[in-house]
Amino acid sequence: MKEIILSGMRPTGKLHLGHYLGVIQNWVRLQEDYNCFFFAADWHALTTKYDKTETLRQDTLEVVIDWLACGINPEISAVYVQSGVPEIAELNTYLSMVTPQNWVERDPTLKDMVKMLHSKEGANSHVSYGLMGYPVLMSADIMMFNAHAVPVGIDQVAHIEITRDIAGRFNNIYKTDFFVEPKPLLNNCSLICGLDGNKMGKSYGNDIKISDTAGETSKKIMSAITDPARIRRDDPGNPEHCAAVFKYWKIFGTPEQVENTEYECKKGLRGCTDCKKQLGDIINEKFAPIRERRSYYEKNVHEVTEIIRDGTVRARAEARKNLERVKDIIGIYR
Ligand code: TRP
Ligand code: SF4
Repeated sequence: MKEIILSGMRPTGKLHLGHYLGVIQNWVRLQEDYNCFFFAADWHALTTKYDKTETLRQDTLEVVIDWLACGINPEISAVYVQSGVPEIAELNTYLSMVTPQNWVERDPTLKDMVKMLHSKEGANSHVSYGLMGYPVLMSADIMMFNAHAVPVGIDQVAHIEITRDIAGRFNNIYKTDFFVEPKPLLNNCSLICGLDGNKMGKSYGNDIKISDTAGETSKKIMSAITDPARIRRDDPGNPEHCAAVFKYWKIFGTPEQVENTEYECKKGLRGCTDCKKQLGDIINEKFAPIRERRSYYEKNVHEVTEIIRDGTVRARAEARKNLERVKDIIGIYR
């Protein structure tokens, strides 16, 4: 029996290279050796965007298309949408009973989300009951399948700590060892910054999307700020003062290319325009097959909905089985 790996993302629209390098690449690697479940967390999206649902359906499809383009293989991994597995909501109900209120209140990632919400929508914006339940719902996602490990970005680790605590508490209360305490799995790849050197994010307008064309990608890279000391082509520069371009070289270039870039930059032997053009070509080459698959699925959305339907069937079968066990353990009439 292979161990179970599960992860999800809120459908917030088209994904960028940060998602790919930070998380999805890890998923793609893991799916060969584990029994994997990947899902679009549309209920989690509603915790903050319950009043902005015009694009939710399309955004949900877009994340799944991005995953498939990146190499998630639906033949071996179950790909589904959270709301398509209502068993999760039922498990959420049981878990919410055993979770102390102060555990969710002290979740640092949730505190950040609340702060963000207030800064975007004003201090009067309300924090919904559903948002407070974010980490419990996330625990239900994970515990529904008794996942052993959860590959995520660093910002999600606090939630998974709570999941471990909830699993432990449930087991304790009901004198069982049914639930596994899941571990977070972090990627060893360094975090990619945005084009301005800050954290890459859609809301900062500094991202490169997986779905961007080669032309759009090159154009975005050309707009990146480089070492301000370099005005003429032969001014000596310092890659450490270059906001993003040199950092991207370190992620996408070979060690030799990185060394050359550093040398030629410092000696004033390479112009920033050439440097960015070369880098753009390398990134475009790497993403060409991904983008090709992406446009295939964009044109064949019925295949994507079919994949989700299959994944949902697989996920629900597993979820139903576990839910029956949980109800028996608690002592629910059935
Ligand atoms: N909170 C995650 C995010 O914002 C999405 C998510 C929901 C998730 N449930 C999960 C991730 C369970 C891993 C496991 O991206
Ligand atoms: Fe950055 Fe390259 Fe210009 Fe150096 S030559 S400052 S590494 S873009």
